Amino acid sequence: MRYFTIRRRRYWRYKGSTLHHPIGMKKLDRDRLPRHIAIIMDGNGRWAKMRTLNRIQGHRKGVEKAKEIVNHCSELGIEYLTLYAFSQENWSRPKAEVNALMGLLKNHLKSELKMMTENNIRFMSIGNISQLPVSVQKIISEVEEETSSNSGMQLNLALSYSGRLEIVEAVKKLAEDVMDKKIAIKDITEDMFSGYLYTGDMPDPDLLIRTSGEMRISNFLLWQAAYTELYVTETLWPDFTSTHLLEAILDYQHRERRFGLTAEQLRIRAAR
Ligand code: FPP
Repeated sequence: MRYFTIRRRRYWRYKGSTLHHPIGMKKLDRDRLPRHIAIIMDGNGRWAKMRTLNRIQGHRKGVEKAKEIVNHCSELGIEYLTLYAFSQENWSRPKAEVNALMGLLKNHLKSELKMMTENNIRFMSIGNISQLPVSVQKIISEVEEETSSNSGMQLNLALSYSGRLEIVEAVKKLAEDVMDKKIAIKDITEDMFSGYLYTGDMPDPDLLIRTSGEMRISNFLLWQAAYTELYVTETLWPDFTSTHLLEAILDYQHRERRFGLTAEQLRIRAAR
């Protein structure tokens, strides 16, 4: 087992956190990091309410947290990070909140382009992007284009996203290809179907983190999360720190991923 070496800068950042020292970094097994982490960032509204702030202030803090976690995942060497920033259902929220979220998105995406370039991060949006304001779509395209040749972590931002809709859209495209005789029905496989989703040929998420204690996946990555390890923390998203992230990864590393096999079968496989 190989361990992370701890850089002094990181050490001091973890001091005083819930783990009290960088023990999490010491124990992380670098060879068993999740390749793909997905996060449902929940609890901005409750965080704000507890402080008699308005919901928008909660979202502002949420954006700061998102940036911190993006940076940390990139430093750790995570290959794919998918953040659930705005669901299809979120369009039904009060207009002022929706507008504020769109404004935050626009301003922060633009200002984070430099950070993404410096950290070699490739940005991609997933979801029904054509529903977003044109000005937001424009910035998304710019950032996607500017970062497209980066070879580090891929950051997916799920916007106007619905897992069910994603599947329906994939079925439509697949049906078109069948009608155009590009593929035969008998050749349709799970892998092929996955290729029609927004996530294309990315690996499925290994770990799905949800903050604020809700025990549901809220229409997020429904197909892709078939064998994903779920980690729910009571911590509200604006309170979520790099230390909480490490705790989630450590928890993941202690799980046995069986993919429907028995523990005995897994042991035999590992011994081969
Ligand atoms: C859930 O909290 C959060 C959202 C619906 C928005 C999440 C968006 C962000 C954290 C900002 C991301 C933006 C960028 C630019 C990365 P909630 O409002 O449902 O909280 P509640 O359940 O406590 O009310």
